[in-house]
Amino acid sequence: MTSKTETILVHEGQQFNSTAAVTAPIFQTSTYIADSDPAEYIKAATEAKHPYFYHRHGNPTNSQVAAVVAKLEKMEDALVFATGMAAISNAILAIVKSGDHIVAQHAHYSGTAIFFKEFLTDYGITVTAVDQTDTAAFAQAIQANTKLIYIETPSNPNLNITDLKAIGELAKRQGILSMVDNTFASPINQTPVDFGIDVIVHSATKYLGGHSDLTAGIVCGSQEYIAKVWKRSVTLGASLAPLDSWLLLRGLKTLSLRVKQINANALQLAEFLDQHPKIKSVSYPGLPSHPQHELATRQMKGFSGMICLEVNGQDEEQAFNNAQALINNLTIFINAASLGGVESLIVHPASMWGGHHTKAQKEISGITMGMLRISVGIENAADLIDDLDQALRKLG
Ligand SMILES: Cc1ncc(COP(=O)(O)O)c(C=O)c1O
Repeated sequence: MTSKTETILVHEGQQFNSTAAVTAPIFQTSTYIADSDPAEYIKAATEAKHPYFYHRHGNPTNSQVAAVVAKLEKMEDALVFATGMAAISNAILAIVKSGDHIVAQHAHYSGTAIFFKEFLTDYGITVTAVDQTDTAAFAQAIQANTKLIYIETPSNPNLNITDLKAIGELAKRQGILSMVDNTFASPINQTPVDFGIDVIVHSATKYLGGHSDLTAGIVCGSQEYIAKVWKRSVTLGASLAPLDSWLLLRGLKTLSLRVKQINANALQLAEFLDQHPKIKSVSYPGLPSHPQHELATRQMKGFSGMICLEVNGQDEEQAFNNAQALINNLTIFINAASLGGVESLIVHPASMWGGHHTKAQKEISGITMGMLRISVGIENAADLIDDLDQALRKLG
């Protein structure tokens, strides 16, 4: 079909809508009438993502969503899941086994960090975490048994950037797989395959869905690799439910519009915060003050809606109190976990990560007591700036 982003978002995957309805129906069913020919039955039962066999195997809307996102990410194929973590864990478990090694980063979404730190180690898989801003460190961490380089850029929550081209080339040279969590950027702002990355994972709960009304995940890669992931997924069973899949398909139609508005809003907010006397520092890849702004500009088309800031404070306690007061003074921003929706959210990463990470782990991931993470929505930018301004004025 067509190849331009906005058209892909609205029309791709129509072949999976077997009805005359313009809007794909919700196939709210767990199973489908089987073919009476035993040979056809066996074929359907073993075919990856068969849309009309049994829900864990596939669903027409899941296939439609996968077709849209695979095309956006310029990948051969994709597979949807019930959550981003299901996508990430299935994608990784499809290629590593006991005795294998993974190179990853210091900073990852906490669920991914826990998967590496606590889950995989129980199954004899080791992980070396490196500083993502030091490209040479990835190469130095590779061992004879390394099967995967797993990266996240921009990373959650500190918004550091990993050099996609360098990692893509390194993985190819070593004959190992490269995988990126592209959640924070979204495919509107970053298409990692352009830099030689093999596999892309998303928490579709965030920008792809975009309305904070569903959880979902997606893995994009070669047809051969997705078939392997599908095999794992049928056993592990984290299938995306029909209604959530339908909501995701609807959300995707406006992805480009939303992300462009969010990019523009976020840049304005970052510029405002960057010069504010009550703010110690701002991290936003779109600001020239970001230490990796030049790299971000090379690999991103827009800089997304995630901003990290640090409020002033003479010590950790005062910084913590100021951060909490700022959250409480805001009237438009909502204090809630998650990101990528139409509404602006704010969180205190040290509290959110607190139960999972030790102080040392927080430090190495760049999480401080005065740090706040903002997910900018599609509201009016001037309203958002006014809200931040009044909230900051109230700080001591
Ligand atoms: C970068 C990133 N990846 C993955 C996930 C996990 O996604 P989910 O909550 O849909 O399982 C999150 C969740 O916040 C995230 O921020």
